Amino acid sequence: MAEKSMNTNIIDRELIKKYNRPGPRYTSYPPANHFTDSFSRDDYLRMLKDSNGQWPRKISLYIHIPFCPQICYFCGCNTNLMRSRQQVRRYIEALKKELRMVAGHLDRSRVVSQIHWGGGTPNALPMDDIEEVMGVIYDLFTLSNDPEVAMECSPAYLELDDVVRLARMGFNRMSLGIQDINDRLLEKLHRRPARYPLEDLYRTAKKSGFRGVNFDYVYGLPGQSLDDHMASIRKALEIGPERIVAFSYAHVPWFKEHQKKLEVYHLPEADEKLTMLESAYNLITHEGYVAIGMDHYARPGDELARALENKTLHRNFQGYVTREKTGQVYAFGATGISQLSDGYSQNTRSLDGYMEALEAGQLPVMRGYRVSTTEKIRRRVLNEIMCNHYLDFESVAREFDSTASGIRQAVEYNPESLAEFKEDGLVDYDNQRVRVTPKGFFLIRNIAMKFDPLMSNTTKGYSKTI
Ligand SMILES: C[S@@+](CC[C@H](N)C(=O)[O-])C[C@H]1O[C@@H](n2cnc3c(N)ncnc32)[C@H](O)[C@@H]1O
Ligand code: SF4
Repeated sequence: MAEKSMNTNIIDRELIKKYNRPGPRYTSYPPANHFTDSFSRDDYLRMLKDSNGQWPRKISLYIHIPFCPQICYFCGCNTNLMRSRQQVRRYIEALKKELRMVAGHLDRSRVVSQIHWGGGTPNALPMDDIEEVMGVIYDLFTLSNDPEVAMECSPAYLELDDVVRLARMGFNRMSLGIQDINDRLLEKLHRRPARYPLEDLYRTAKKSGFRGVNFDYVYGLPGQSLDDHMASIRKALEIGPERIVAFSYAHVPWFKEHQKKLEVYHLPEADEKLTMLESAYNLITHEGYVAIGMDHYARPGDELARALENKTLHRNFQGYVTREKTGQVYAFGATGISQLSDGYSQNTRSLDGYMEALEAGQLPVMRGYRVSTTEKIRRRVLNEIMCNHYLDFESVAREFDSTASGIRQAVEYNPESLAEFKEDGLVDYDNQRVRVTPKGFFLIRNIAMKFDPLMSNTTKGYSKTI
């Protein structure tokens, strides 16, 4: 167990206010707003074939289910209202076709180390549909010895029997989207409450063989009070899931119009959000959980906590993952983003466009990006800063067959740009290494931006770092 109360003064409110400005989350590099429409199907096909010879050799599969039976007004995810059984069936057929088309280009000797179903609400599909797609995956791919098979689930649509069935299909990790336990608040947010008590869902998951359950929350929601958030966190701590995740609410009504409906409620200001973050952080770490990133906490024995300690933590669009489990990510479904060694390819956003392309036998590519060697280095450096809070230029150089000075050049490293952070006690550095201090942890995106030459120009369109 981590030493109790050790972490209580890590959040320096003045510093967070001083530096809090919009910035990317660095789930990809370059960020997705740099992807271009000139990236074509043929580019993706070439990238798919080349990916067989590249690192990591392992395969991660991401299955996107862009449907929800009801749309929550705070939602920032890529989803649509589930309209009819026919629509869902047509989508499942398209998904299966896409899986077959992509698998045809992948080397059969490569193994799948991670399968992640996200959404939307995958568990709102009939379980038979999920089983059908899993059957196709098992036919087409070989799994590694210890794969992570995860699903993002909304407890509003999760039956206890579903949990058992998912475990039988091979799922071993589940994120439960709880957001907040105050049903009156959920109603304002146009969100349905959980069907079963969270302790029953958790117990059933563990009994049926799930290795880990995440409880996902959002803080800073319109109309949400500090008491609401803390009661939700206390509930998690009573139950003791393997991981607790508390995302900062991103209000982006220019992008998600339904969020405007929530502007009639009080939108917590930066100061209030900081209090929520600080109170939750203190309570969760006091209970022995290890803070993994700004929003993730894991029990001390959890593999993410161990990866952080060994500096082998990674992050992709699906969240944090260990170096052993991460593969190149092949995404399926509308809006899905594949993350390969050579770059990114995003599927079309329109549901009809996605299904029509596959029905015509074509990959539904909308846009993408081929990364240069310099960008690959930047991506690696940003991963080290964002996930492991530590950068050793020499060790990155070894991976790229380069030199420490080559790596410094690629990220346009200018130690002077970190001087103010150092004075404020957020980083320690010399010419060889950069270490983010525990105090710098909450300004990690701001620190990362100093290693991203693209960020010297613009922060437009990004949400604030806290
Ligand atoms: C793609 S959703 C899927 C989960 C599932 N549909 C549900 O709602 O329980 C994944 C997570 O994103 C988070 N999320 C959604 N909208 C958000 C927003 N505007 N700001 C921050 N986090 C958000 C929520 O915690 C949600 O559980
Ligand atoms: S929060 Fe989850 S359930 Fe609600 S609309 Fe978004 S994806 Fe669907």
